[in-house]
Amino acid sequence: DWTPHAFADETIADLKQQLGNDKVVLALSGGVDSSVAALLLHKAIGNNLYCVFVDNGLLRKNEFESVLESYKTLGLNVKGVDAKDQFYAALKGLTDPEKKRKAIGGKFIDIFDAEAHLIQDVKWLAQGTIYPDVIESVSVNGGPSATIKSHHNVGGLPDFMKLKVVEPLRSLFKDEVRRVGRALGLPENILGRHPFPGPGLGIRILGEVTPEKVAILQEADYIYIENLRKAGLYDQVWQAGTIFLPIQSVGVMGDERTYEHVVSLRAVESVDGMTADWCHLPYELLAKISNEIINNVKGINRVVYDISSKPPATIEWE
Ligand code: XMP
Repeated sequence: DWTPHAFADETIADLKQQLGNDKVVLALSGGVDSSVAALLLHKAIGNNLYCVFVDNGLLRKNEFESVLESYKTLGLNVKGVDAKDQFYAALKGLTDPEKKRKAIGGKFIDIFDAEAHLIQDVKWLAQGTIYPDVIESVSVNGGPSATIKSHHNVGGLPDFMKLKVVEPLRSLFKDEVRRVGRALGLPENILGRHPFPGPGLGIRILGEVTPEKVAILQEADYIYIENLRKAGLYDQVWQAGTIFLPIQSVGVMGDERTYEHVVSLRAVESVDGMTADWCHLPYELLAKISNEIINNVKGINRVVYDISSKPPATIEWE
């Protein structure tokens, strides 16, 4: 019978054995998987684990700062890298979803590679790959389905890094990863977090990504997510997010005509992200969120709610 404590003890012992005095580099994303992988490795090899947390400018409001703080509190040897401007530059002029994904993924590799090169004699690359990622990347690369969307966080590292790969969570499902994280004292703000795509808000801003649009979307999304939390619904929803649409529409504010942007709210119920149903959020809550966004976020005069399930829609819009 599997228990998170037994798994952690065994894995830490194995990692100690496998890694000895070698140095290991790991990219933290703020998500559960990379965080739990980091905690296990830290318990095994201490400060020989070098964590890198990149601010790609496409995270949720305040997320980089607050998550970096949590990592430091946990005692991780972590370096925060502000690369916002490099990502925005790479995204300039791009509107095609796949090109945007590739640009974000490619820029991430560049930055991570440069950081890894700063660590003398680093031998290993650690990744928070979990069992469903292993399965999915096999079917994406080898199967007939081809790539529906290119996920940049699985198996995407270039050969020139020449690092050996260590993946302590390869045999686990998501709920098991959470249980291990809880056993190791990972805080709830990381443990309970909704899934968030690697390319972040870059694929929730349809069309060209600019820092101005990111700032508007972060504000609207913050209002949405905070209201879900206050209503006690955050943990019941599998994933929620806000999408910035590439259109403007007419509105009225006082006696002024406005011509501003539209955001769509998305909330889904799912088990593994492969299929999903849209959540029937209470109308009163949707009304409150819509009012708060329109009254407080300059640049938005209309809010819509996405009532599409997967399939045929996907969870993300790009
Ligand atoms: P879709 O949009 O394909 O999303 O229904 C299914 C789940 O995968 C997440 N997603 C990603 N996660 N890197 C990730 O780590 C990515 O490139 C990526 N694209 C989509 C999405 O948020 C949802 O949970």
